[in-house]
Amino acid sequence: MKVLVIGGGGREHAIVWKLSQSKHVDKIYCCPGNAGIAEIAECIDVRQDDFQALLDFVKYEWVDMTIVGPEDPLSKGIVDLFEKEGRRILGPTKAAAQLESSKVFSKDLMRSHGIPTADYKVFTSYLHAEEYVKMKGAPIVIKADGLAAGKGVFIASTVAEAMDALKIIMKDRAFGEAGDRVLVEDCLQGEEASFMAFTDGKSIVPMVSSQDHKRIFDDDKGLNTGGMGAYSPAPVVTPELEKIVMEKVMKPTIRALKAEGITYKGILYAGLMIDSNGTPNVLEFNCRLGDPETQPVLSRLDTDLMDIAMAIADEKLADIEVAWKSDPAVCIVISSGGYPGTYRKGDAITGIAEANALEGVHVFHAGTSFREDEVVTSGGRVLGVTAIGSDIAEARNRAYEAAEKIHFEGMHYRKDIASRALNRQTT
Ligand code: AMP
Ligand code: GLY
Repeated sequence: MKVLVIGGGGREHAIVWKLSQSKHVDKIYCCPGNAGIAEIAECIDVRQDDFQALLDFVKYEWVDMTIVGPEDPLSKGIVDLFEKEGRRILGPTKAAAQLESSKVFSKDLMRSHGIPTADYKVFTSYLHAEEYVKMKGAPIVIKADGLAAGKGVFIASTVAEAMDALKIIMKDRAFGEAGDRVLVEDCLQGEEASFMAFTDGKSIVPMVSSQDHKRIFDDDKGLNTGGMGAYSPAPVVTPELEKIVMEKVMKPTIRALKAEGITYKGILYAGLMIDSNGTPNVLEFNCRLGDPETQPVLSRLDTDLMDIAMAIADEKLADIEVAWKSDPAVCIVISSGGYPGTYRKGDAITGIAEANALEGVHVFHAGTSFREDEVVTSGGRVLGVTAIGSDIAEARNRAYEAAEKIHFEGMHYRKDIASRALNRQTT
């Protein structure tokens, strides 16, 4: 079978790597891909946002399955177009992807169907939002409704910070239309976890749990990023909690969408805040795999990913067994100096082969490209050094040992990835 993967980050490298082990797959295309993906797939020269050109490519090359990595094509309806033309594609339709593309849609759905989430109010008027924030006080959370590349969420610890956030979204219109509506949300405390599941709209199969590290610096300091590292499993997600999340969040969400006339197929990702009593609340939904959570999670997947993708497309997920390795995995993201602000590009990267040669290690590329034969940096998050081990400590040591072999000018990585999981295990 032939498969096309859309995207070019660490998540997509992990997807392509997993597909390259499939007994069904004999050709992988990727759009746009990166330097690491290019070793195992053919990177195609089609624009990622030109859905018609992608569809034409799929028809011309007889591609059997398309797997969409990022949220953008999903929220713009790539799945609707492909399905209309009878092409197999993994991901939710535009209507279903609103779960991620509109925070108001997602919160309203949760509220009307009793899915646990922080209390909130929606505003289109700056004055009304300001009044409400003054009445509620801080800490408080301000969110732009639409997609803002992870930058539209402000955790305000003072009322003044909350006002600034309202101004940035509603007056300066920093996120354009994505800020037409603003959510003002109660601030939740606890530990975060990423809970992802496969679903064909009828059955829902949980993946192993994971946790990412959003801030740029150690001890969760500095600006928010796309994710500076991740590990799986997240010890906070006990087997009991997994059951609760499935019964109170995941299944009710699929049912709630059904009740609104929307079938959700693909990957459902719930960002959870788990309080000190072990009660989960949904922070957000994503309609895709997490990045970098996918790197450790897919490293632990035993089942053929193509079998899962086919089962979802054909609505036969209940017929297959999804199996995981018990060994934990850890991913350390190496970023370019300056990220998440402006950063350098075009620096030569060395040591990837040496890192890959270590036991249990796989280096997933994100922002990399070729300059002649040399691999160079081309993005903010550059590599996801991922390792599996017999316990979290071994996985983590292997990943850090591998990261030390890699070098490029200005590189940065956090030194405390998975330390919380480690402390939990040893205390
Ligand atoms: P979101 O894109 O909605 O997940 O928000 C991004 C990040 O902001 C989350 O991963 C949390 O760290 C934080 N966050 C979002 N909503 C809340 C909330 N209601 N209370 C506390 N933290 C939040
Ligand atoms: N790592 C968080 C996300 O993929 O949204």
